Amino acid sequence: MAAAGGGGRSCFVLGASGETGRVLLTELLARRPFARVTLIGRRRLSLGEAEAAVEQAVVDFERLGEHAAAFQGHDVGFCCLGTTRAKAGADGFVRVDRDYVAQAAELARAGGCKHFVLQSSRGANAQSRFLYLRVKGEVENLVQAVGFDHCTILRPAVLLCKRQESRPMEWIVQQFLGAVARLFPTAYSVPVELVAKAMVACVLQPGEGKDEHTHGRGVGCSHG
Ligand SMILES: NC(=O)c1ccc[n+]([C@@H]2O[C@H](COP(=O)([O-])OP(=O)(O)OC[C@H]3O[C@@H](n4cnc5c(N)ncnc54)[C@H](OP(=O)(O)O)[C@@H]3O)[C@@H](O)[C@H]2O)c1
Repeated sequence: MAAAGGGGRSCFVLGASGETGRVLLTELLARRPFARVTLIGRRRLSLGEAEAAVEQAVVDFERLGEHAAAFQGHDVGFCCLGTTRAKAGADGFVRVDRDYVAQAAELARAGGCKHFVLQSSRGANAQSRFLYLRVKGEVENLVQAVGFDHCTILRPAVLLCKRQESRPMEWIVQQFLGAVARLFPTAYSVPVELVAKAMVACVLQPGEGKDEHTHGRGVGCSHG
């Protein structure tokens, strides 16, 4: 693990226990663009050696307003939060992927956060007739309306990862797209490692290798 750097800067991560979030955390701890990294989640994570390098805030997402302190004083917020309709039902999916994210963004802004980095999805569109894409479009609009100095939205294609949780349909799609990616890299899919690298690259200070991954193929970054 690299020594703490980051010029005293602080960030928080939502969704650090997920497939992208875990890789993002590894990247943050390896590159050390932030002196302070806080994981905000619904449970405390066992991180082995890395545990000493991060702070953890356990929050009740249904009462996020009571956890404003967790969002206080961060320069950057990363959001890899999300669930699925299969897991949480349609209402639960909307609650997590839109409402929790939008509330977290509001609290972050109120706490002084200048740059919010949101992992959305390819095809996000608030006008879509598909629930998933509509909710992703809606949450993008809500986060952009919060008024951060900078807001980066990543719209990755299908994530390629070794998912810990069983999602049979996603596994089949990943096998197919993984094979396609050998011919057309990242046309329809993107490794989570590339998404995580792009998330970190977009918040680096000038001279820290910022442009290396911000335009990673299949990631779809938009900056504002
Ligand atoms: N799968 C794809 O191909 C794909 C493609 C493009 C974009 N995306 C989007 O990218 C984002 C990250 O995807 P991923 O696959 O890396 O995520 P993931 O592995 O499903 O992890 C999701 C994270 O959200 C947290 N979470 C889920 N439900 C929650 C709840 N009710 N309350 C609090 N926290 C909750 C999880 O915490 P716990 O560990 O506590 O459950 C976990 O940290 C999602 O928004 C997803 O929609 C996915």
